[in-house]
Amino acid sequence: MNAPADMGVVVVGAGDMGARHAMHWQAAGARVVAVIDRDLERAAACATPLGAEHGADLAPYLTDPDVHVVSVCTPTFLHALFTVPALQAGKHVLCEKPAALTLEDARAMRAAAETSGRELRIGFMRRFDPAYEPLMSFAKRIGRPVLAQVTITAGVRPKRLMHDAMANGGPIIDMCCHIFTQWREMFGTQPETVSARGYTFSDGKPEVAKIAQRALDSALITLEYGDGSVGQIQVSWGLPSGIDPVERHSYVGPDGLVIVDWPRRVTLRDAGGITRWASSGVDPWREEIAAFHRELTEGAERRVATIEDGIEALITSLAALRSVRERRPVSLDEVTTAPGGSRESVERA
Ligand SMILES: NC(=O)c1ccc[n+]([C@@H]2O[C@H](COP(=O)([O-])OP(=O)(O)OC[C@H]3O[C@@H](n4cnc5c(N)ncnc54)[C@H](O)[C@@H]3O)[C@@H](O)[C@H]2O)c1
Repeated sequence: MNAPADMGVVVVGAGDMGARHAMHWQAAGARVVAVIDRDLERAAACATPLGAEHGADLAPYLTDPDVHVVSVCTPTFLHALFTVPALQAGKHVLCEKPAALTLEDARAMRAAAETSGRELRIGFMRRFDPAYEPLMSFAKRIGRPVLAQVTITAGVRPKRLMHDAMANGGPIIDMCCHIFTQWREMFGTQPETVSARGYTFSDGKPEVAKIAQRALDSALITLEYGDGSVGQIQVSWGLPSGIDPVERHSYVGPDGLVIVDWPRRVTLRDAGGITRWASSGVDPWREEIAAFHRELTEGAERRVATIEDGIEALITSLAALRSVRERRPVSLDEVTTAPGGSRESVERA
């Protein structure tokens, strides 16, 4: 049965993502019932302007029949902790990306969704970024195989959790999941093998000195696909702080070339000449949440990423981390059949 248009939503985690979710749920026509954060001041700052309650405990809202959705915006290692009980209580869940830090957690989230029959979506909001559609359609025009390269660099991230192997997992999990899920769609399949080298360029930088289990912050990751396509990601969050983030992609195929200055510009060069696309400035989180609202209230076609998408991206990240650790190419089967996908798999190599 469809949820009512003014369905109740509880947002867990009142940081940057939680504030966005709360604002966009309200804009989509839902009613933000409460914002939950262990930091009550943050929860209040997010909830009060929306006329919502705030608190530190999700549990009371899970028995409230007027709450239909829980939006999980906590650090990644806590995603399953809030997602599983919310699903078990019969709520739909929109969980920020990446799905989880471990396969164990991600599979528990999937199992809870299957058992409850409720919807579980993962916030791969780039699907709603205006650059996404031109990128995917230009990429179809360059033939196969494709030689893909992505460079993502930034200074040491201001949030400690982004460098913590036990919190958000570092960029191989936290950032590269966006590219892994995009390439899953672009190539129509998961890679056969993943090879990676990993580094901590942040060594000696005071901002991260107190993190007990610092994640790899830099890597070169090579993905090989069955049709001969190869993708390479050069990623670093370990440059001196203050250096502006850069994200550039290039895709070379027998029939052309696509160059991306994410998320602003996408250019195709092929036999037809040069086709350029430039951003229209849409907020992808707003679009994503509006799309999920339509799915739940009108039965609209599913566009928001599933937990399966989240699991596939996580498997690729875990394969890259294992490749760094073992200094050899890793097939995805080796990750999916590993016992439990245990937490040690994300520790610094
Ligand atoms: N879609 C994207 O591109 C994107 C961008 C940034 C972050 N994210 C993801 O969103 C999630 C949150 O990131 P963020 O940048 O908003 O982080 P943040 O640090 O700004 O906010 C996290 C909030 O969670 C709260 N929190 C921590 N432990 C809690 C607990 N036990 N109970 C309740 N609240 C708790 C913190 O107090 C904080 O307010 C992460 O999984 C991150 O990977 C996604």
